[in-house]
Amino acid sequence: MISIIVAIAENNAIGLNNKLLCHLSEDLKRFKQITSGHKIIMGKNTYESLPIRPLPNRTSIVISHTKDDNFCNCLMAYSIEEALSHCSKDEECFVIGGGSIYKQFLPISDRLYLTKIHHEFEADTFFPEIDYKQWRLIEKEDVLQSVSNPFSYSFLTYERC
Ligand SMILES: NC(=O)c1ccc[n+]([C@@H]2O[C@H](COP(=O)([O-])OP(=O)(O)OC[C@H]3O[C@@H](n4cnc5c(N)ncnc54)[C@H](OP(=O)(O)O)[C@@H]3O)[C@@H](O)[C@H]2O)c1
Repeated sequence: MISIIVAIAENNAIGLNNKLLCHLSEDLKRFKQITSGHKIIMGKNTYESLPIRPLPNRTSIVISHTKDDNFCNCLMAYSIEEALSHCSKDEECFVIGGGSIYKQFLPISDRLYLTKIHHEFEADTFFPEIDYKQWRLIEKEDVLQSVSNPFSYSFLTYERC
């Protein structure tokens, strides 16, 4: 099973200057809880943007066109197909970004863990348009603005219809 996990702003923005748009502590905790113990698939830019590389307690699959790239303690993949070949059918693998990787995996993903941030941001990277007719909402939780969460947002989990 392929799952996408992403934080998306109201204008579909997901990143600027190879960084996330904002720090949302509850969202980061949830990301860690959902992805720990699993394989996570990411593009090279996202890998390079991480504060700790690779993320602990997960198996990182990093996609790059550059055959010389060989990141320590990661599985390398030089195509989408090669990334998928590292995942078996009976496990949930998480696609964690960024924009170019989400675009290629959205058509073949089974589940979406969206954090919808109720704010618009200046950005240079966007999530592809979601056709919500293809997705069924199975879980929703709202998080209000607070000291640790500068914006309100909603956790939305969808499964493909
Ligand atoms: N909001 C969120 O939840 C979230 C999550 C993750 C990332 N982000 C943000 O997204 C931004 C990064 O996204 P991005 O689109 O610039 O980069 P990216 O998708 O992380 O990585 C792009 C790179 O991946 C490689 N690649 C992509 N498709 C490939 C394929 N089919 N075969 C082989 N290699 C492939 C290429 O590497 P080469 O250079 O080798 O060609 C490409 O330059 C950052 O701002 C980051 O903070 C946001």
